[in-house]
Amino acid sequence: MASQKLTDAEIGSVLSLIFPMSEASCLGLFLEERALQPWFKLLKSSRVIEIGPGLNPIASYFPCGEYVAAEAHTGIDGLTVLRRQPERSAVVVSFNVIDDFVLGAGYELYGEALNSRYACELAEEIKRVMNPFAIILGADATKYLGRPDIPALNFGGVYLPQ
Ligand SMILES: C[S@@+](CC[C@H](N)C(=O)[O-])C[C@H]1O[C@@H](n2cnc3c(N)ncnc32)[C@H](O)[C@@H]1O
Repeated sequence: MASQKLTDAEIGSVLSLIFPMSEASCLGLFLEERALQPWFKLLKSSRVIEIGPGLNPIASYFPCGEYVAAEAHTGIDGLTVLRRQPERSAVVVSFNVIDDFVLGAGYELYGEALNSRYACELAEEIKRVMNPFAIILGADATKYLGRPDIPALNFGGVYLPQ
């Protein structure tokens, strides 16, 4: 799946078509998922980077040691934030973003290839930065990140570094 890294202009094209922020969220389902509870508790002693918190940052539900948000609607997207992080430097979390419906919102305008290149590079960056784990819940988490080590609701789950 490796392909050329996106330029800043290509990232800008992807982001220009992202859905508006809305209250719509499945986060409530994940917050109560039993398999995730021990991992949510570990956020308290971790540096946490959340991709796409929208109106529901995880830090509002579980305390985080340090919390960094990468939210496209505040002008900084997940790929740009992760590219600046050292390897193995944070717990990466994301809810309802690694999903073609969200990341590929405008693909018919800018081309599906660009959308899927963005999603693939984002997944590579998550794997590079995550430590000692990542919590990625999204309809297409498995497509981009592979099978989770601890699955949750058939929607991705907890990933551990290889
Ligand atoms: C469906 S909402 C989910 C919001 C929240 N995580 C939740 O579960 O309630 C998707 C959010 O991800 C943001 N988003 C989409 N693509 C993004 C990207 N590439 N980088 C950062 N945020 C992104 C959107 O702006 C939106 O706020």
